[in-house]
Formats: sequence, C-alpha cells, structure tokens
Amino acid sequence: MTKPLEGIKIIDFTHVQAGPACTQLLAWFGADVIKVERPGSGDVTRNQLRDIPDADALYFTMLNSNKKSLTLDTKKPEGKEILEKLVRESDVLVENFGPGALDRMGFSWERLNELNPKMIVASVKGFSDGHHYDDLKVYENVAQCAGGAASTTGFWDGPPTISAAALGDSNTGMHLAIGILTALIGRDKTGKGQKVAVSMQDSVLNLCRVKLRDQQRLERVGYLEEYPQYPHGEFSDVVPRGGNAGGGGQPGWVLKCKGWETDPNAYIYFTIQGHAWEPICRAIGKPEWIDDPAYKTAEARQPHIFDIFGTIETWLADKTKFEAVDILRKFDIPCAPVLTMKELANDPSLRASGTIVEVPHKKRGTYLTVGSPIKFSDLKPEVTASPLLGEHTDEVLASLGYSQQEIFNLREVKAV
Ligand code: COA
Repeated sequence: MTKPLEGIKIIDFTHVQAGPACTQLLAWFGADVIKVERPGSGDVTRNQLRDIPDADALYFTMLNSNKKSLTLDTKKPEGKEILEKLVRESDVLVENFGPGALDRMGFSWERLNELNPKMIVASVKGFSDGHHYDDLKVYENVAQCAGGAASTTGFWDGPPTISAAALGDSNTGMHLAIGILTALIGRDKTGKGQKVAVSMQDSVLNLCRVKLRDQQRLERVGYLEEYPQYPHGEFSDVVPRGGNAGGGGQPGWVLKCKGWETDPNAYIYFTIQGHAWEPICRAIGKPEWIDDPAYKTAEARQPHIFDIFGTIETWLADKTKFEAVDILRKFDIPCAPVLTMKELANDPSLRASGTIVEVPHKKRGTYLTVGSPIKFSDLKPEVTASPLLGEHTDEVLASLGYSQQEIFNLREVKAV
C-alpha cells in the first residue's frame, strides 16, 4: 500500500518530546524522516530515565519510531555542508531548539529559504515570536503553567496542578503536524515553502479554550453554575480550579466504587447528562427522583449535586468500576472506569486496534508504545523500532553522493 506521505522527506532536527512527537506521527503516515543528532550523544532522551543499561531509554524509543538517525555536528563546517545538501533535497525541516539556536548555527529561516524556497521550516518554541517571554527555554510543566492549564487544574483548596497528559509537549507536536500538512497542501498550490511556528503556550491555551469561555462568563454574571463552588462557595474574579467537575454543561464527578479504600483507582467518572436524568434514576434505583421537582431539572439539581453524587456512590459501593460501567452503559449514561496504565497496557481492544503496540528493538527486545491514535480506512500505520544513534549515517551520506572514503574522513574529524 502506498502511504499518503511517501515521497515527503523530512529533516528531523528535534529533541525531547514536542518535536519528536510531531515527526513520529508524520513518519507513521509514510514520510521519510531523518533524525539529525549530535555525534556521540544524540537526543538527550536516549539517556534519560534508562531502565536497561546501554540501551536507548523508553523516553526515546516511544517518540522516535519509524525514523532514520543521522549523526551530524552541524557546528562544524563539514556538518554544515552536509546539512545544506540535505536541505536542498528535502521538503520539510522540523526543529524545537531553544530560541535562536538555529540562527546561531547559521540556518536562519532566510538562509533555509534561500537554499530551498520550496522547503517548509517548522518550529516549536515555548512562546510565540515577539512574545515578551520569547527568549525563554520551556519544558512541559512550564508550558502548562504559562498556557492556563495549571491555574485551572486541581482542587480549589490546593495549589495549581500539572496534568499528567503532555499538553505542552506532544500536544504542541500535534499542532505542528497540522501546520506542516497545511503548508504542504499550500505548497502544492503556490510552489512555495513557508515558515510554520507553534508555541507551547498557545497550544496549551488552545486546549484551555473552555476556561477562557468561563473567564468571560464569570466577568459577566459573577458565578459559574457548573463549578463545585456554586452556589455555596465564593467566586473571585478569576476562573477557579474546579476539581473533577465536568467542563461543559453536563455535571460530572469521579465517584468511588467497591474497593476504593485500598485501590486508589477504584473509581468511575459519572456524567449527569441532562436528558439522561430518567435513565440515571432508573439505573441507580431512584425512580421517585424522575418527577420530583427538587431533582427534575438541571437547575433544581445543581444546589445539591454533591448529595446526588453521594447517593450514586452508595449505589456503587458493592460494584467494581467495571461492573458499574457495564450496568450504566445499558442505560446510555456517559461514564468510564478510571483506568490505570497497567490496565491500558493490557487492554485487548487497544491491542487489537493498534493503539497499544509491541515493537521489537535491536537492543531492548520488545517494548510497548502508543501507536497511531488516528485510524484510516486505507492506511494501517505500522510502528517500527526507533533507530540506534547514527544507524543510518552511512546510508544517508551515500544517498547524498559521499564515498566510503569521504565518510571515513568525516568520522575522523567527528563531523558525523
Ligand atoms: N550539532 C551541533 N550542535 C547541535 C546539534 C548538532 N547536531 N544539535 C543541537 N545542537 C546545539 C544547538 O545548536 C544549541 O547550541 P547553542 O545554544 O550553542 O546555540 C545547543 O545544542 C543546545 O540546544 P537547545 O535546544 O537550546 O538545548 P537545551 O538542552 O539547552 O534546551 C529545551 C532544551 C527543550 C529547553 C530547548 O530546546 C527549548 O526551549 N526548546 C523549545 C521548546 C521545546 O521544544 N521544549 C521542549 C519540549 S519537549
């Protein structure tokens, strides 16, 4: 099967998570992704949090599958020359260095555009160009704080809280992938490349859109009726942390199930969808609530929503999270068990769909990773192992016309 991005050549000048997540996705869909890494060390994640001595860490292998690895010291003249050759024949260059690093290396947007006017140059930075913090280096949690996620996550009586989901890193990479694909389609029409830039702050804020909605509602009416603070607590002039409250118009909460005393994940998420009130009452054995004026409408329920959740927890007390969901799904109630990483890793449905995949690796043996979360009718992305450091250096250099002797000489001066 021809993959949609076959024939698209990408110079992957990325490291850590935000950039690699983007290029990995494009590699799954068929792009020829050449990861350029510093000789001797490579992407810092190869060594970070190692679980097997002398083998690339999972942090690296899980973000760099389906790529080639070319070692290149792009600060040396020989390395620059090779990069220039690569730029001339590639479609996209993706980078997420600290601010100004690419310019200092001699590969500004203007220079890249001069070398290859058709090239798309895609960057991740912590803050957007011209932002008053645009000189800052940024990691995941920094971005979550800068993008509004931390101030709105957690409980109102605790500190701002970081999400375990990579809202700053992988999320930004996904935004960048959309930008690259858009620029590629644009190039088909204009014949020209362009610069695509995504900041981690902007990408986090994009996912916090509903909290900006809430800020404006709060300023207009002074309260947010779907937050636990309503109607008994106080609101200030900023969106508060809402614990596990539902973010939209449907109230929800994490509820205890059988075994919660010893199992920290014996919970379900339960949503009280307005029009599902009747089935909810039937499911939890409270048919008398269906027409009771104190329960009948969302407005009537809100002042005592936590008493309602308490009653549902009493109903859940003798049911595991899985048993509870099996009952509730029959009533069409939006809910799910709180799943652990262990449960997800072994989930037969996720294995069958290719969302959790086992990948054989030359040094590690087999490891688990998250495969493509995007499913197509005519493409089944196959996840292959991440490359060893410099595994494809000879192959890439040979394709650029370098002889064995020249490659040997480049190694001697540590340019590759
Ligand atoms: N050959 C020679 N030099 C190389 C090289 C190569 N193949 N690859 C990288 N380098 C150099 C860079 O040119 C840079 O040199 P300089 O600072 O002397 O100009 C140097 O390595 C360090 O790069 P930098 O990206 O600044 O690394 P860092 O470890 O100090 O910072 C981050 C890491 C992630 C904080 C920073 O890259 C950053 O803020 N990136 C943008 C936002 C981002 O993506 N954050 C991470 C999300 S997972």
